[in-house]
Amino acid sequence: RTDGTTDYYEIVQRVADLSILPGLRTEAWTYGGSFPGPTIVSRSGRRTVVHHRNELPQAAVVHLHGGHTPTASDGYPIDLILPAAGAGDGTPPMPDMPNMPMSAMMGDTRLGQRTYTYPMNQRAATLWYHDHRMGRTGLGVWRGLAGFHLVRDDESDALPLPRGQRDIPLMVTDRSFAADGSFRYPSAATAGVTDAYMNGVLGDVILVNGAPWPVLRTDPARYRLRLLNASNARRYRLELDPQPPGGAALVQVGSDGGLLDRPVAHDALEIAPAERFDVVVDFGRYRPGTRVRLVNRLGSGSTVDVMRFDVVGTDRADDSAVPDRLARATAVPDPHRAAATRTFLFHRRSDGTWTVNGDPYRPGRALARPKLGTVEVWRFITDFHHPVHVHLDPFRVVSRNAGDPGAYDAGWKDTVDVRPSEAVEVVTRFTDYPGRYLLHCHNLEHEDMAMMADFTVG
Ligand code: C2O
Ligand code: CU
Ligand code: CU
Repeated sequence: RTDGTTDYYEIVQRVADLSILPGLRTEAWTYGGSFPGPTIVSRSGRRTVVHHRNELPQAAVVHLHGGHTPTASDGYPIDLILPAAGAGDGTPPMPDMPNMPMSAMMGDTRLGQRTYTYPMNQRAATLWYHDHRMGRTGLGVWRGLAGFHLVRDDESDALPLPRGQRDIPLMVTDRSFAADGSFRYPSAATAGVTDAYMNGVLGDVILVNGAPWPVLRTDPARYRLRLLNASNARRYRLELDPQPPGGAALVQVGSDGGLLDRPVAHDALEIAPAERFDVVVDFGRYRPGTRVRLVNRLGSGSTVDVMRFDVVGTDRADDSAVPDRLARATAVPDPHRAAATRTFLFHRRSDGTWTVNGDPYRPGRALARPKLGTVEVWRFITDFHHPVHVHLDPFRVVSRNAGDPGAYDAGWKDTVDVRPSEAVEVVTRFTDYPGRYLLHCHNLEHEDMAMMADFTVG
């Protein structure tokens, strides 16, 4: 629904039986009965209002990942949408937070529903929305609470990039299933906190848009593939097999925060949880009839294959192109003008606790207080592999281990893959909205084990 200034969406979060594996039913937690949830499409500069009703057996929180969102609608992990009447799962609706008054936590929550308002004062980009409940995000997303949210604007619409049926969002996830088809997720209650949980939960079946190892029939033409790694913890190195003659098959046109200034051609893409890579692939470079596998070079066995493109379509007509200049150059904040430089250490303590700067997450305790309108350099230092995500404003990667940014760091990002024992510097400007926001590891089990921190923009 739309009324000229605002686009409205209604989403009911509910349990649904999906058929993911042949002949079996999988009970999922869904946005609107499907996994992924419905794709929301917004116009840059035009408000989108999403009303969520929670008919799940648990509390929920909705976060628009990559959204430039006022704090009240950002999906703070204890801003819960309580289950609608009668749907409780027996766990207490509120986590035990002795230092937080109930009223401060509840925002505009009414029992069972909540309205999120997104001004969409941001560039065209591929965003996604997902559950963000305190301590349970990994479980919620694993069971299906994730969907795309695309932002369009005039600048990107004017480009001749592939569109319509040839512009395809691809949500890549891994899952494990029990013999009866149900999602298998290690439960701390029954299994204890195992190593498999500690390092982040991995599945052995790769799903793309909710389907295992799907096949897409393509024309011998250009396609825009908006790749999102929505896996809890798995990183991928994606490659086409076979490569077309000459390689460089994955032409990146966008990153988390929208179009790059100029395209970058890759043979392979490394994509960490929550990252997005917007790429153009020209299947016209293949002989008709070729079956092109999208493979994961970091996988083994069943986690190598991701999906397949069969170049069997006959429509050669293709008026798309990848221009040399994609976006008007955006003003990149100058790291030398930063008002502050801060260091965040993502580290597992010897007692097993995952921490940022030595402490597990506690809502309401800000690790940083950047001033609205200022530029800061944030340095992320890690022990293990941690995809570090910052809410509110996108950033640019300035350096890795004091050297140049990596091959996959181009453009505006909201998540950066920080490798073991690396120091990565990013620069950002805090704009438009004061208040309380999050930075955290987007390995969802690390996040749930409290590798997260607040920062307050003032
Ligand atoms: Cu995609 Cu704070 O999360
Ligand atoms: Cu986010
Ligand atoms: Cu981590």
